[in-house]
Amino acid sequence: MISKVYHIPVMLKDTVNGLDIKPDGTYVDLTFGGGGHSKEILSRLGEGGRLYSFDQDLDAQKNARPLKETYGTSFTFIRSNFRFLKNWMRYYRVKHVDGILADLGVSSHHLDVGERGFSFRHDAKLDMRMNQTAKLKASDVLKNYTEKQLAEIFYLYGELKNSRKLASIIVKARANEEMETTGQLTELLKPYLSYDREKKDLARVFQALRIEVNGEMSALRQMLTSATEILAPGGRITILTYHSLEDRMVKNLIKSGNVEGKTETDLFGKNKAPLKAINRNVIMASPEEVQVNPRSRSAKLRIGEKWQR
Ligand SMILES: C[S@@+](CC[C@H](N)C(=O)[O-])C[C@H]1O[C@@H](n2cnc3c(N)ncnc32)[C@H](O)[C@@H]1O
Repeated sequence: MISKVYHIPVMLKDTVNGLDIKPDGTYVDLTFGGGGHSKEILSRLGEGGRLYSFDQDLDAQKNARPLKETYGTSFTFIRSNFRFLKNWMRYYRVKHVDGILADLGVSSHHLDVGERGFSFRHDAKLDMRMNQTAKLKASDVLKNYTEKQLAEIFYLYGELKNSRKLASIIVKARANEEMETTGQLTELLKPYLSYDREKKDLARVFQALRIEVNGEMSALRQMLTSATEILAPGGRITILTYHSLEDRMVKNLIKSGNVEGKTETDLFGKNKAPLKAINRNVIMASPEEVQVNPRSRSAKLRIGEKWQR
């Protein structure tokens, strides 16, 4: 089932303005989703302009078809994980690009369509794969990971203070009962969550599992490194993040050229970072946007530009 509105793009103008689009330039949207950002980029391209859009989700691929019909060879959709950015650019014989945009995480579609298993709002199989052909599902994580591994995931990816407790409840419960559905997981954990934080903490548990299932941190790390390499001098990277781990990696990349934030200097002690920050402070959605699109509340936008050395 496809939801009516697939996804409302977040900070659409700010994000695409950040690319400083040249009509004949080559651009990459790493997270096509409902195509909101891609459409805006395409509308600013002219003769010779190219857009390559990635998404690993089969449903997102369907959204790309009308754009292919309208824009022909100016637009290429690539159904793949964006961790393979460099390989795909090599495949299309693209050496450098003028801009790269990423709007990380899941789309509203993922959360709205119950059977994808991303949300505790619907009772469904614990799936949570963005790429429906991938092997690992959330139910596999809950079934097979050790208590220590589960605690780490909840702590690192969900920032849950009671991560050890939640992991131990799951491990005890799975010895006696199946944990196949979002409903079963929610009912199991609810008694251990404080009433006023119940929804927030459940959202964090689900976020943590989803990040693990989709290998989001390792994909982001690999993509950010490749993105810096394939950007042309003066090229821009604009990234929307939705939780602090992602934002830290992007911030570090722009500041120091690597996701760890290690400053590297040349013989003269000058910072060798390949990018410079375009926005000194992170850009957040306006209160008006948050009101119509609550998802934008947690979004942080960072823009970097490759030095022309
Ligand atoms: C927040 S949505 C993007 C929404 C889009 N900007 C729009 O305007 O509709 C993120 C999309 O990126 C995709 N995605 C997330 N991580 C990915 C990855 N590592 N590789 C490829 N696609 C990914 C998801 O499947 C999802 O469709």
